[in-house]
Amino acid sequence: MATMKAIVVEETGGVDKLIYKDIPLPEPKEGHVVIKNHFVGIAGEISAVGPGVENFKVGDRVVYIGGSTYSEYSEAKEATVEKITNDISYETAAAIGIQALTAWTLVRESYPVKKGDYILIHAAAGGVGLLLCQMCRYLGATVIGTVSSAEKATLARENGADYVINYTEEDVVAKVNEITNGLGCHGVLDGVGKSTWEISLQCARRLGSVISFGNASGVVPPISISILAQKNLKIMRPTLFNYMATREESQKWWGEVFELLSKNVIKTHIYKIYELVDAQQAHIDIESRKTTGKLLLKP
Ligand SMILES: NC(=O)c1ccc[n+]([C@@H]2O[C@H](COP(=O)([O-])OP(=O)(O)OC[C@H]3O[C@@H](n4cnc5c(N)ncnc54)[C@H](OP(=O)(O)O)[C@@H]3O)[C@@H](O)[C@H]2O)c1
Repeated sequence: MATMKAIVVEETGGVDKLIYKDIPLPEPKEGHVVIKNHFVGIAGEISAVGPGVENFKVGDRVVYIGGSTYSEYSEAKEATVEKITNDISYETAAAIGIQALTAWTLVRESYPVKKGDYILIHAAAGGVGLLLCQMCRYLGATVIGTVSSAEKATLARENGADYVINYTEEDVVAKVNEITNGLGCHGVLDGVGKSTWEISLQCARRLGSVISFGNASGVVPPISISILAQKNLKIMRPTLFNYMATREESQKWWGEVFELLSKNVIKTHIYKIYELVDAQQAHIDIESRKTTGKLLLKP
């Protein structure tokens, strides 16, 4: 039986449960393709097509979003795979993947950012955060980012943040009030969760929107809906997958992100490329919060 190298999780636990081992090479089921992963983040080339596959052939350069991807090869449903043009490298495609799609759906669907808006972005130097800064600036908003260090502040500014608050030194709510003349932000984009949730509510202006899209610091605690009445706030908890549930949605969002890339509206910031065998170290680094932008694995 043909095998491949992969990172396998056989039991839950810390990063030591990410085990590098040989497992069977996937074979494409009906309507599926097998992709040789060039970079896990995820981009690669079609290495096999299953019965009924109409849009792909072996050798096509593609990007896709899926599970079970810390491996040399992955199986994916045809409908979830997109071709990439030759001017987009595998690194860029993999780096842009989930994070740019997430960021773009957040600012177009979850809270459609408008010219003149004040937008607060937590973890502005993170992978999603940097792309949000670029996109909000492009859409004409005034961007306020929060970060935990001077290096991250510089990076957030370079990527479009008009104001950056280092929350280890400054009070975020006070600073946002100062910047917005006490009105607060039209939209708050919060991927940090537990530790920023209260701050997010306080930083939103009357009729504002708070979009909670991640739990980097832990899960947002249960809330009483009546707290929203204080400012007629809207809150939302989106996931990328629910914006890309159909083939049409997938093509629309990928198409728009590729266009942003080709127009140089967005650029990737790759922190580091790790060998697949070093997946544990990649997880240790991202958990340490010293990383910025995107981490990639190379099978
Ligand atoms: N809804 C969706 O569909 C979707 C899709 C993609 C990602 N996400 C979520 O979005 C969030 C950001 O993703 P990302 O790829 O941008 O991650 P990332 O690059 O690792 O950024 C996370 C940042 O959060 C900040 N942070 C604050 N408290 C933290 C803590 N206790 N532990 C770790 N980080 C903490 C850190 O920035 P500072 O040091 O500056 O505070 C860190 O760099 C994640 O929670 C992710 O799961 C959601």
